[in-house]
Amino acid sequence: MRAVIVTEAGAPDVLQLQEVDTPEPIPTEVLVRVHAAGVNPVDWKTRQGKGMTAVLGDPPLRIGWDVAGVVEEVGMGVTRFRPGDEVFGMPWFPREAGAYADYVTCPARQLALRPEGLDFAAAAALPLASLTAWQALVDTAGLQAGQRVLVHAAAGGVGHLAVQIAKALGAEVYGTASADKHDFLREIGVDRPIDYRAEAFEDVATGMDVVLDLIGTWDYGMRSLRCLADGGTLLEIPSGADPDVLEAAEEQGKRATGMLVEPDGAGLERIAQLCRDGKLTPTLEEPLPLEQAARAHELGEQGRTQGKRVLLTGP
Ligand SMILES: NC(=O)c1ccc[n+]([C@@H]2O[C@H](COP(=O)([O-])OP(=O)(O)OC[C@H]3O[C@@H](n4cnc5c(N)ncnc54)[C@H](OP(=O)(O)O)[C@@H]3O)[C@@H](O)[C@H]2O)c1
Repeated sequence: MRAVIVTEAGAPDVLQLQEVDTPEPIPTEVLVRVHAAGVNPVDWKTRQGKGMTAVLGDPPLRIGWDVAGVVEEVGMGVTRFRPGDEVFGMPWFPREAGAYADYVTCPARQLALRPEGLDFAAAAALPLASLTAWQALVDTAGLQAGQRVLVHAAAGGVGHLAVQIAKALGAEVYGTASADKHDFLREIGVDRPIDYRAEAFEDVATGMDVVLDLIGTWDYGMRSLRCLADGGTLLEIPSGADPDVLEAAEEQGKRATGMLVEPDGAGLERIAQLCRDGKLTPTLEEPLPLEQAARAHELGEQGRTQGKRVLLTGP
């Protein structure tokens, strides 16, 4: 089968499409024929020698965690899926999944059935980004109907799904993006778009119960604390919470925390149900073929993605 290999840490051209052995599912695993693989910032951070390199070790290694495809074979003990089932998921994270490939093996309980109405490309856009949003807003912050949430980078991969999840929960949503993306923000449900280039977001978004910070700098963390109501929660997503931000949060009677997304089949079922209910729809940039993984990284690293970018393995 074909797989994209990070041959060494570096620029996008270190990604090479190579022939490798097709993996075999051990008990409790399924073999998935990948139709589409989502592209996430952690993929290019890892390719650069950052990201999950500390977990995966030095190259050569494989990247990509978002999978949508068809179950080809099931290992001993698997009862939830049969060959032919159409599935999506984020297996193994932060261990190696190697989703930029024709096949992957996955623990069956880290997958869910692909929601009807979403093609493979759309389904591959969901797992890592939507589970991040879900685990942050629901599992960690306990966001409730009627509460107010600010989502930074609301037009990006995690942000545009977080906005829709927050709206589905009945929250009032503020979101930051540059002005050219504000029509998109309104379409996905943002009540108050904020042009972070023209407005100080902490002057506009006040009394927030939750801030989902997908920028994660010291500056954004400190300013985001000022947005929070007493007892509110700041979720610092990119690289955990800065110790200064944690200390300032405690002094102000607020909560700040980092988090790392985890594989979660049950969470994916909830995500799939939101899709079926018409409350969650991923937006895609133009999909690229697997051979153009390097191009997908070049585009992603520019930091302007609206929604998600995926790689297609099929013809
Ligand atoms: N801890 C975890 O488990 C976890 C999980 C997922 C993602 N992450 C991290 O979270 C971050 C976001 O991930 P992602 O997939 O959503 O990234 P992404 O899709 O690449 O984000 C792109 C978006 O960021 C926006 N943006 C850039 N600078 C901004 C700013 N200063 N204010 C507001 N928006 C800004 C851009 O909008 P404009 O063009 O308008 O600037 C663009 O729409 C990444 O660092 C990623 O590694 C962490």
